Amino acid sequence: MSKQTYLTGITTSGTPHLGNYVGAIRPAIEASRDPANNNYYFLADYHALIKSQDPAMLGQSRMEIACAWLALGLDPEQVTFYRQSDIPEIPELTWLLTCMTAKGLMNRAHAYKAVVQENTDAGSSDPDKGINMGLFSYPILMAADILMFKATKVPVGKDQIQHLEMARDIAQRFNHHYGEHLVIPEVVVEERAAVLSGLDGRKMSKSYGNTIPLFETAKKLRKSIMKIKTNSQEPGEPKDPEGNTVFEIYQAFATPAQTDELRKQFAEGIGWGDAKQQLFELIDAELAEPRERYNALIAEPNEINKILTKGAEKARVHSRALMDDLRKAVGIA
Ligand code: TRP
Repeated sequence: MSKQTYLTGITTSGTPHLGNYVGAIRPAIEASRDPANNNYYFLADYHALIKSQDPAMLGQSRMEIACAWLALGLDPEQVTFYRQSDIPEIPELTWLLTCMTAKGLMNRAHAYKAVVQENTDAGSSDPDKGINMGLFSYPILMAADILMFKATKVPVGKDQIQHLEMARDIAQRFNHHYGEHLVIPEVVVEERAAVLSGLDGRKMSKSYGNTIPLFETAKKLRKSIMKIKTNSQEPGEPKDPEGNTVFEIYQAFATPAQTDELRKQFAEGIGWGDAKQQLFELIDAELAEPRERYNALIAEPNEINKILTKGAEKARVHSRALMDDLRKAVGIA
């Protein structure tokens, strides 16, 4: 197989939590170690601006997420790791693509439609209430991220499949009109990517407020884990691991043998406190070292900025070349 270019964006809103780690960060970092491919990872801070309009929070989240990926082993020498906003060619390409995108296509975007639906359900007289143009044209910015670096494979969660189809549509239309300049990307859906439950048993998500942060102190991590909702079964009563949040999170960090052992203890009636203590110890063992690296990195924001700026320089070799080509193609060179 020829060399593939993998590219994925991380929206910089919120503080990274265990669900992000298990579902996205850990598998992506594993994949990034494969020298057979080109890998682009970027902090989608322009995307974050659509929803997060608190400058201090945006800056903090971006720094936390950058440090988390680096602390967990992303190697900026091996991959291209950068901030979206450090690539001025991205908004340029976004505009060229905007002029090649049917408004009707954007009308069908799920993220936009979901808010229209909420407004309608709430009985609002304005279906577009609270919707800015960033949200409406979000898929075009995302298409620019992808097409800029000629990505062939884009690993995303299921909720992003439609955005990938739109990126393909937009690229095809551009190529049809101006000639074959853009590479048509393929979506890679992380079917196996684990979805972690949160403190209340629903999917761990910032929007439910049920997350366990990735890099809090060991003491706080333990406290969070002790808050996981369990039923009122007493120690000694056999417990069902199926659909149990403690068991499920344990499984996401354990070897198969460790998981079997906990399953046995559930059958033997382990108390919730003991089960949670084991969960804490397991997670802490995996995260203790990265946590130290994270704390060291976050204390050196200038170093992080240097790494990201270097990543952007690497990326811009390609984005400049493509934009030169495209400016000629559309007649504004
Ligand atoms: N929209 C993606 C998400 O919310 C983040 C993202 C932005 C992205 N640009 C991208 C993902 C380009 C893949 C490729 O998860």
